[in-house]
Amino acid sequence: MTSDETTRRDFIYVATGMLGVVGVAGLAWPFIDQMRPDAAVRAAGQPVEIDVSSVEPGSAIIVTWRGKPYFVRRLTDAEITAASGVTVDQMKDPQPADQRIGGPADEAKKDWVVVAANCTHLGCIPKVVDSGADGWHCPCHGSVFDFTGRILHGPAPINLPQPPHVFASDTNLIIGTDTAGA
Ligand code: FES
Repeated sequence: MTSDETTRRDFIYVATGMLGVVGVAGLAWPFIDQMRPDAAVRAAGQPVEIDVSSVEPGSAIIVTWRGKPYFVRRLTDAEITAASGVTVDQMKDPQPADQRIGGPADEAKKDWVVVAANCTHLGCIPKVVDSGADGWHCPCHGSVFDFTGRILHGPAPINLPQPPHVFASDTNLIIGTDTAGA
């Protein structure tokens, strides 16, 4: 897969609704505002459930919850290996990779990362760079995050936060709660 393809796929946007409502994907940023969950859902901050069955390893979607964007990325084996190889001295906000990678109950399917899509410096949305341990690059001031959302370089002070989330099944992710069936 080329870098351009990865970048394009990383910005597929999924609008979500209340539990049980599945989003619709789009490709262009100008559509983002049109595709957010309706105002009532956003105001209430209710969990959103997303069908992630179309997300292949090495790609991501963006989901909104409480009006903010989140990356939902499925890692390749190589990306998991790269993230696991990042040492403490390379991190500004040290946290083991395996604490940030999750997925369905089946251990073999734990290759998912769910993180805020706003840079922890001033809030820009990072883009995929996919080079070694580097995963996302913030175009505003150069912060670099790995694909688990850990800050590696640049002015961002902390890792990309992870929202409460849980897999209700192998294909359905809920953001907004860490308890399936809640
Ligand atoms: S907003 Fe990302 S580095 Fe400044």
